[in-house]
Amino acid sequence: MPKIIHRIGGFAAPLCIALFWTSTVFVELFGSHPAVAQLKSLIVTPGLWILIPAIAMAGGSGMFMGKSRRGRLVDTKKKRMPFIAANGLLVLLPCAILLNRWAAVGSFDTTFYVVQAIELIAGPINLILLARNVRDGLRMAGRLRASPVQA
Ligand code: HEM
Repeated sequence: MPKIIHRIGGFAAPLCIALFWTSTVFVELFGSHPAVAQLKSLIVTPGLWILIPAIAMAGGSGMFMGKSRRGRLVDTKKKRMPFIAANGLLVLLPCAILLNRWAAVGSFDTTFYVVQAIELIAGPINLILLARNVRDGLRMAGRLRASPVQA
């Protein structure tokens, strides 16, 4: 069971972030203000209601499975978790909520774009950390070969 929970959360979390990021860039470049507002609203609901539980599912089940595992990969995965959680909860979550509130009332001022820029930078940072956890997880599960350098 923890393995299945881990797999679902582990794949859903990076997919959500990649989807939020690409759709944000697309709609900011080519969409109208109402389209931006619509996307901001979707990112909060249902977006965050999928992303946050997915990270919690992957992290919680990972820590549980990690109790019985030793090694560099599991240690590195554990060390990445506080950064993933902090970036998600302290940066991405407040950014998404604020941007949604401002977009809903048509407030597309400098503050909006500064926060939007912060969100667009923080997203890929978490995506890289999550993708590395996926890669190391697949190596640990024997579904991906270790790189020749590390072998
Ligand atoms: C949100 C962060 C994480 C992501 C995205 C993630 C992702 C993954 C993925 C995709 C797999 C392969 C699953 C499979 O195909 O069977 C995996 C395996 C694994 N992960 Fe994570 N993981 C995360 C956090 C953690 C943490 C914090 C730990 C504990 C230190 C951990 C421990 C494990 C273990 C032990 C396996 C191997 C399971 C097996 O042997 O089949 N993961 N992870």
